[in-house]
Amino acid sequence: MTFHLKKALGIDLGTDLTRVYLKGVGLVVNEPSIVAFNNRTNRVVAVGSEAKKMLARTPAHITALRPITHGIIADFDMAREMLERFLKREKLPWSWTTEAVVSVPTSLTEVERKSVEDLLRESGASPVHLVEQPLAAAFGIRLAIDEPTAFLIIDMGAGTTDAAILSLSGIVVSRRLKIGGDYLNAEIVRGMRDEFKLAIGEPTAEEIKLAVGSVMATGERLEVVVRGRDIASGLPRETSVKDSQVRLWLARPMRAIVDALKDMIETAPPELAGDIYKNGMYLCGGTALLRGIADLLMKEIGVRALLVEDPLTCVVRGVGIVAENIPAYAHLLNNFPGPKVKD
Ligand SMILES: Nc1ncnc2c1ncn2[C@@H]1O[C@H](COP(=O)(O)OP(=O)(O)OP(=O)(O)O)[C@@H](O)[C@H]1O
Ligand SMILES: [Mg+2]
Repeated sequence: MTFHLKKALGIDLGTDLTRVYLKGVGLVVNEPSIVAFNNRTNRVVAVGSEAKKMLARTPAHITALRPITHGIIADFDMAREMLERFLKREKLPWSWTTEAVVSVPTSLTEVERKSVEDLLRESGASPVHLVEQPLAAAFGIRLAIDEPTAFLIIDMGAGTTDAAILSLSGIVVSRRLKIGGDYLNAEIVRGMRDEFKLAIGEPTAEEIKLAVGSVMATGERLEVVVRGRDIASGLPRETSVKDSQVRLWLARPMRAIVDALKDMIETAPPELAGDIYKNGMYLCGGTALLRGIADLLMKEIGVRALLVEDPLTCVVRGVGIVAENIPAYAHLLNNFPGPKVKD
């Protein structure tokens, strides 16, 4: 008789990327959260990087969609099919012995949380544990969050910016904003249209952001040449874009993030504000890689900002650490403010 060891997965269903950690192995999936769907046959034709290639250039009968929006499941069936295909490709068949730890944004509604649980259950995992993203990030950074001091974590992803103050292994206050890398890209598309009279797609906006995007002047002047469609003539045209222009387009969303952080810190007990001053704030998520983010936050908040190592995988490494030893973290999982009980 063979002895089956229980499998455990750590999952980060991101707006931009889906990542899966397999207990005892490591990161096994790191793929774009995109599904290409054939409307004629009603079937999924591709997922992940293969589907991403189709995103901006799909023929009429193929739709490329993102089943996760702002970190929340927007299309349940597509999200399930996407995750199942990723795991099948890695030869990771689901079985009733698969346990899953999934990271979720803060302050989700019960319905939104249940949707994540159902997705994993319907795919065959049981039990399913949920952990809030800033907490997962703190595990990933290996912060000593069980100590009587406070940490400020800011996870800037593609769909959301999720910030939280943690103390004694719990979230004391948090703020979630629907502003992330996708929003910044949309601002670049708008800036190009309004100021350069050039229509560009999302992939070109992303290219501009990565090549010259910044939120504070860095001293080096950056410039990139991009192509698009001239709004007046309707014909292809190329133009060059400078970092200073992009910085102006990104100023408004950055302001919103700074205001939300200030507001969150103001609502925290003063002792914790003191701890944060001492410990600094930790930046993770892909958008934390934008040039000048740490400097801008330091200037505005007055606290040291530290960009964590490998910010893109910080959350999945955190859920991975939990998946390696679920019983040790059991008291920190599924910890959400429950319904208020009247006495
Ligand atoms: N060097 C970089 N500079 C600026 N932005 C970057 C850089 N690298 C990645 N990004 C952005 O990071 C985002 C992806 O980050 P991440 O993988 O943390 O998001 P996610 O977890 O999928 O989304 P969310 O947590 O919001 O659901 C994308 O919007 C991408 O454009
Ligand atoms: Mg994320």
